[in-house]
Amino acid sequence: MASANAAPIIEIDGISKSFGSFKVLDELSFKVAPREKLALIGPSGSGKTTILRILMTLEGIDSGDILVEGDNLYRMPGNGGLRPADEHHLHKMRTKIGMVFQLFNLFPHKSVIDNVTLAPMLTKGVKRADAERHAMELLDMVGLADKAKAMPAQLSGGQKQRVAIARALALSPKIMLFDEVTSALDPELVEEVLNVLWRLCEETDMTMLLVTHEMGFAHDFADRILFFDRGRIVEEGKPDEIFRHPKQERTQTFLKKIIAAGHRV
Ligand SMILES: Nc1ncnc2c1ncn2[C@@H]1O[C@H](COP(=O)(O)OP(=O)(O)O)[C@@H](O)[C@H]1O
Ligand SMILES: [Mg+2]
Repeated sequence: MASANAAPIIEIDGISKSFGSFKVLDELSFKVAPREKLALIGPSGSGKTTILRILMTLEGIDSGDILVEGDNLYRMPGNGGLRPADEHHLHKMRTKIGMVFQLFNLFPHKSVIDNVTLAPMLTKGVKRADAERHAMELLDMVGLADKAKAMPAQLSGGQKQRVAIARALALSPKIMLFDEVTSALDPELVEEVLNVLWRLCEETDMTMLLVTHEMGFAHDFADRILFFDRGRIVEEGKPDEIFRHPKQERTQTFLKKIIAAGHRV
């Protein structure tokens, strides 16, 4: 469970982001507590992926501030104030956060274990033997120790996604971001990936931000739900409040649509 009184591990303070003339995020603010499991839900195009990509520094912001463990993500001290972060600062900050994408993005020409060891060896200078030992522990945790030498093309979608999770964990992030990690999977493969998320929840201290259309899972897994629409938080609360007693009309409409589309709440 999240520790409600601890200093936030992530603090998003009034961030805005436009693509051309289109404002995707509009003065968005929210905080995440250490170990909290936070689900981000909302209609397609509401800015959920953009938020995760911004936290990964894959996308910049136009204004506002993001603090991760109290350190500003995009700015660093300098000249008596704050100046834009340099590569060294970004590199340091990036090691705190890992992300798993909807479409796995495994390196197709590398074996499963090489997919997992590559980043620690390249970005942290971990020796191959140590990287492989850690990788085998992680593959064991996601139930794929026997696939270490396989190539991605030989795996099912669910197995690929579990390798992608092991790969993100290999850098030992404190915060993990999951962007619709089951929505590209055949229905019978969804469960095995969700089970890995449960395991991470139970066996690690990681803070987890989860974008998902699996409302049943979000309900059971998350400490708190944020409902987004058009780059703003429309409603937030505990899963029971949001799913059973949504206050805002937009939340009610969204939940009705998603139930009609066959998702369990
Ligand atoms: N790199 C980009 N360039 C232009 N528009 C983008 C880019 N990334 C996202 N968008 C637009 O921003 C909006 C929010 O996208 P996104 O964050 O992917 O929403 P969600 O994940 O909630 O579906 C969408 O309208 C999308 O088309
Ligand atoms: Mg998205």
